[in-house]
Amino acid sequence: MTVQADGHSRLEAVGSVAVRTFEARRPGVHPSTETQSVPAMANYEDDLQDGQFYDPDAEYEPDPEYAATLAPDAARQRRERVGPTGRPLPYFPIPGPLTEHGPAKIVAMCNQKGGVGKTTSTINLGAALAEYGRRVLLVDFDPQGALSVGLGVNPMELDITVYNLLMERGLAADEVLLKTAVPGMDLLPSNIDLSAAEVQLVSEVARESTLQRALKPLMADYDYIVIDCQPSLGLLTVNALTAAHTVIVPLECEFFALRGVALLTETIEKVRERLNPELELDGILATMYDSRTVHSREVLARVVEAFDDNVFHTVIGRTVRFPETTVAGEPITTYASNSVGAAAYRQLAREVLARCHAE
Ligand SMILES: Nc1ncnc2c1ncn2[C@@H]1O[C@H](COP(=O)(O)OP(=O)(O)O)[C@@H](O)[C@H]1O
Ligand SMILES: [Mg+2]
Repeated sequence: MTVQADGHSRLEAVGSVAVRTFEARRPGVHPSTETQSVPAMANYEDDLQDGQFYDPDAEYEPDPEYAATLAPDAARQRRERVGPTGRPLPYFPIPGPLTEHGPAKIVAMCNQKGGVGKTTSTINLGAALAEYGRRVLLVDFDPQGALSVGLGVNPMELDITVYNLLMERGLAADEVLLKTAVPGMDLLPSNIDLSAAEVQLVSEVARESTLQRALKPLMADYDYIVIDCQPSLGLLTVNALTAAHTVIVPLECEFFALRGVALLTETIEKVRERLNPELELDGILATMYDSRTVHSREVLARVVEAFDDNVFHTVIGRTVRFPETTVAGEPITTYASNSVGAAAYRQLAREVLARCHAE
């Protein structure tokens, strides 16, 4: 795709990357008549030529109907740079390449409510971070194994899972690790076996830090480890919170979104006091947002009122593309790379990285 944006710039998308090229206007030379090679996805940051930069905001073919769910008045939002949360939208810089990796920052994706977008956010935040050159490990910490399924793994066929890593001393993590189709992103899969851990761990010494111990040898190899929690505040989730540096809480923009959040923040508080003093609430992530409904906008406004700066500026809109990706067994960033949903998770990755550097 070559889009003639104006006399100075144009967009080129090859595969799934869009690069905006700025060049000095030379009289008589029409920019679009020149050909420009655009680097491939994996190492696009290394290969960018002078005068080129990666423009994630320009990479999707606008689907006006879905874009409208994020910005009811796109022109006003651009003019005033007000984000969907009603606050001024900062610019999240494009993360630079890394020359070395680790130690990992561990993020727990947590909400005891089911169906709020934990698994979807784990897969797609992970994939977007990997696109930006980060080494990512995803941990399926839900016996349902939805994260594994979402990455094309059949959990029923697995003999060794994260359950074995927790329960069997001496088992090396790379016996459990699976590579995903996304370069730089690995998976610790799980299946129904993990439900036994909840019971078996009760009698263990330091039962809350079992996952933390299991992840320790892997920290040096990754930049981000994202744990997809099960929908409960039981011992498995407490293990995830004990291992984590930060928590992301996805909230569906629906009427009961805030119900139960007090219990969750209380649990986070207790884990911080008793088990993991470093733990921080990185942010509340509004998901399944549809600005065309007053209801969705009201819920988001309430969430911002309650959590203020703890709410991510990035908001994930509601689109049928996400359920489709589960069937396809891949992240939206590869399944529908040019979709607004993919762009949203790329922006989330940039916001997460920007927050991390701001600390
Ligand atoms: N932004 C979204 N828009 C529409 N559907 C979504 C969105 N995010 C997730 N879903 C769908 O909602 C369902 C629940 O999401 P999931 O990520 O599995 O939640 P959780 O892990 O919290 O239970 C899944 O079918 C998923 O495909
Ligand atoms: Mg889930």
